[in-house]
Amino acid sequence: MGEGQLDAGSGDARSPDFRIGPIAPQDPPWDLLLDADPEREMVLDYWPRGRAYGMWQGSDLVAEAVFLPTRPLTWELANVAVKVEWRRQGLARELITRGLEDAERVGMRVVEVGTADASPGPLQLYLSMGFRIVGVDLDFFTRLYRDPVIDSGRRCRDMIRLARDLPAPRLPGV
Ligand SMILES: CC(C)(COP(=O)(O)OP(=O)(O)OC[C@H]1O[C@@H](n2cnc3c(N)ncnc32)[C@H](O)[C@@H]1OP(=O)(O)O)[C@@H](O)C(=O)NCCC(=O)NCCS
Repeated sequence: MGEGQLDAGSGDARSPDFRIGPIAPQDPPWDLLLDADPEREMVLDYWPRGRAYGMWQGSDLVAEAVFLPTRPLTWELANVAVKVEWRRQGLARELITRGLEDAERVGMRVVEVGTADASPGPLQLYLSMGFRIVGVDLDFFTRLYRDPVIDSGRRCRDMIRLARDLPAPRLPGV
């Protein structure tokens, strides 16, 4: 490994060793997708309609984020996960930032995300990126998931809904 290259787990999301790009629809990274959303049927529902971003270090896919067009002018961050050994190094923030930039570029006005009531890490991540809590989808996980969803040793019950507004497109000459 030459100077300036990174060992797994010692990275920096802004390093030139990392590359962000689209993930091929026929190649869902199940290990990462199911880490964020444990029910395969749920993922299969949105994966074909989503816009999936991957982050590679060399040839290794180390993180993914899936954005989904939902309502008019709205994308939802439907899934985001980072390999365990690469966490807390800014990769999720970097990937989500790329999605937000693309959403703004194509004229979206809002990006939404939902997270479990038992998941303080993701909630902190979204709040730190300017998302605000806009509601709670009561009993989401107990109503819609076949098996109990456990996070940090606690059963997830409600989904906390967050949204971040994007700036209106600038009109030419204004
Ligand atoms: C949630 C997840 C995607 C975060 O990825 P990450 O690359 O580690 O996140 P980042 O390094 O970009 O974190 C950015 C900020 O988010 C917050 N954050 C992220 N993970 C956190 C955690 N476990 N606990 C508390 N805060 C956390 C922190 O404010 C962090 O900034 P800091 O490290 O400077 O304190 C990752 O932990 C993961 O893959 N978890 C399993 C899948 C999952 O739960 N997905 C979300 C479903 S809603």
